[in-house]
Amino acid sequence: MTQDVTIKITDREGIIHEVLAPTDMNMNVMELVSAYELAPEGTIGICGGMAMCASCQCYVLNQVTLPERNDDEEAMLSEAFNVKDNSRLGCQIYITNALEGLEIALAPES
Ligand code: FES
Repeated sequence: MTQDVTIKITDREGIIHEVLAPTDMNMNVMELVSAYELAPEGTIGICGGMAMCASCQCYVLNQVTLPERNDDEEAMLSEAFNVKDNSRLGCQIYITNALEGLEIALAPES
């Protein structure tokens, strides 16, 4: 059985969007933000989800447990701007049932 999870995304203007995210499309959070057009085209997902641009950086705002940062994500975040302890690369977080209730904010464009 597949189902959608609800994710709250604060865009770069500070507007909160509550969106439904499909768990059965092998989709990641960067693609979700693009699909809902929550960031202007060309300002997110620049590397296509390869953990090489940080345009998909977001801050995790609540206690939903996510998979650990992988090595590529860690390396990119060590070079990116505006990185905080709760920074993640949206393209490295795949949408699963575990993400139900996740709240994130998009990092500023750098
Ligand atoms: S889309 Fe480039 S690092 Fe995520």
